[in-house]
Amino acid sequence: MRTAFFAVGASVGLLAEAGAALSGPVELGREALESRCSRCHAIGAEGASPHSEAPPFRDVVKRYPPEALEESLAEGITSGHPDMPEFVLPPEEIDGVVAYLNTLVTK
Ligand code: HEC
Repeated sequence: MRTAFFAVGASVGLLAEAGAALSGPVELGREALESRCSRCHAIGAEGASPHSEAPPFRDVVKRYPPEALEESLAEGITSGHPDMPEFVLPPEEIDGVVAYLNTLVTK
């Protein structure tokens, strides 16, 4: 089950690069960020963050590889900023978020 999930994730990444419609883990990850993070952070390939101090995720992934954020997402991101609520994401959403953030890295 788990292995099959990751195999799907890898092929979705290739599809995303080819510009095909997103689905599977990448889309799940995008939705997780959209619902929890997008009121402050720009989550896409372009556009400014709604919160002026929140870095767009496409810049965050230049500083931290998406895999480095995985642990923070699982344990709760607090970072050093008072405005940001603590988030703890379920494992399947974290896999999706990492897959989605990796699509930003390649751009
Ligand atoms: C209420 C607004 C708000 C929300 C919602 C929010 N953030 Fe943030 N986030 C910020 C701000 C503001 C900063 C910049 C803080 C700073 O520079 O000290 C930031 C910074 C970050 C950073 C960079 C930390 C660093 O050390 O450079 C990461 C990663 C991050 N947020 C992830 C997330 C994720 C993932 C979510 C959704 C699960 C999220 N944020 C939701 C406001 C928010």
